Amino acid sequence: MSHPRRYYIETYGCQMNVADAELMSGVLRREGHERVDDAALADVVIVNTCAIRDHAEQRVIGRIGQLNRHKLARADVRLGVAGCVAKELGRELLELAHVDFVVGPDGYRHLPEVLERVDEGERVVHDRFNRSENYEDLEPYRIDRCAAWITIMRGCDKFCSYCIVPFTRGREKCRSPESILAEVRGAVDGGAKEVTLLGQNVNSYRSGELDFPDLLAAVARVEGLRRVRFTTSHPWDFSQRLVDVIAEHPVICDHVHLPVQSGSDRILAAMRREHTIAWYRERIAMLREAIPECALSTDIIVGYPGETEEDFQATWDLMAEVRYNSAYVFIYSPRPHTPAASIVEDQIPHAIAVDRLERLNQLQRDIGTSYLLDKVGTTQGVLVQGAARRGAGRLSGWTEQRETVVIDGVASLIGEILPVRITGLSGITLHGEVEARVPRRAARFDLPVLAG
Ligand code: SAH
Ligand code: SF4
Ligand code: F3S
Repeated sequence: MSHPRRYYIETYGCQMNVADAELMSGVLRREGHERVDDAALADVVIVNTCAIRDHAEQRVIGRIGQLNRHKLARADVRLGVAGCVAKELGRELLELAHVDFVVGPDGYRHLPEVLERVDEGERVVHDRFNRSENYEDLEPYRIDRCAAWITIMRGCDKFCSYCIVPFTRGREKCRSPESILAEVRGAVDGGAKEVTLLGQNVNSYRSGELDFPDLLAAVARVEGLRRVRFTTSHPWDFSQRLVDVIAEHPVICDHVHLPVQSGSDRILAAMRREHTIAWYRERIAMLREAIPECALSTDIIVGYPGETEEDFQATWDLMAEVRYNSAYVFIYSPRPHTPAASIVEDQIPHAIAVDRLERLNQLQRDIGTSYLLDKVGTTQGVLVQGAARRGAGRLSGWTEQRETVVIDGVASLIGEILPVRITGLSGITLHGEVEARVPRRAARFDLPVLAG
């Protein structure tokens, strides 16, 4: 074992990376290392990177350069790169002279050896895929005690034409239900009220005879758990059985993230998304029929090669029709290894893509705001999460539909699900007042997540 050190992990990208940071933290703490929140105090600095768009990649590469100042200040500081850019660029990252080690998403178990080899003067790259690495036996170290991310599968087999994830995370691998349930129980014992099951395409989860709806139902039955979420759902694998399971279990939050990417069948086919818009509409109808109040969010890409004004209009129309609670709109970014990156014709000029992005964002702002305004005057169950970013002494939390709510309150309320009367809205933040100060035990047993 290398000598005890202080480590700092800076994470970019999706929740899978957030969960992986907790995994790395678990591995390092087991070796006696100590987590710090400030890179300036750390002996080991790890940048946990995202490669989804070129902008994300450039940003982390810039950040790795900035963090080099800690090495310049103290020669024994180690600087490492983890996550998706580590897998994408691997050894090339050593061209950045200050990088000591590179660890891809399947190599986190080996961090202690990697650090030892770096101590011996080596510059280490551990970026191989490992088809059987699911980290089932490793315990993540969680900072957030009330809401836990639980990775149920790693990688992705979908190979959408534009997406780098299958190349940075590898092929799909599902964890055993036993290890998932044990981790959920452990998180609940540690104080978690909410868990989010994570994977790039959770709906294709399978372990023997057990599929995702079965797993979700089993998690929902874990005693003491008050909220279950899951992300992300690919429309192709989204089934009536899944909808039924959500409807049957009050602890499963009425909030589904169902990325559509485009409203045009022509573009969806070019993207190799497998689903059509008619199929997607059916999924939404299924969901809304069973759970009319279910919140919906989506991801959209504009400016995919060949996207005409008509294709774009179809996306706009779909957004206006579905009326999502929230939507993340991205400008298409060509990524290495992906089939779409070799398309040379029909590139969309950047200014047109920006204009399309802004038009969708404007539409979404109006729709999103109307949902939030509808909440004013209602009572919502709010999981109190921590100190609010603005306003000293205020706390922030989220509703079942994942809307942020700011309340006045004391720190001892953190981790409770409280009935909150929504009093107003500023931007996309709701404001509210706790309706009744209920004793801790009553909050746990007598106040299930309140509907509006
Ligand atoms: N597995 C998830 C999404 C993972 S990536 C799913 O399939 O739904 C998150 C989002 O990033 C995607 O939904 C997509 O909208 C966006 N994205 C992925 N690759 C991209 C690219 N090359 N350019 C722009 N956006 C991209
Ligand atoms: Fe990427 Fe498609 Fe897999 Fe999502 S489903 S991670 S967009 S390849
Ligand atoms: Fe980014 Fe990798 Fe997640 S590319 S979005 S961190 S899987």
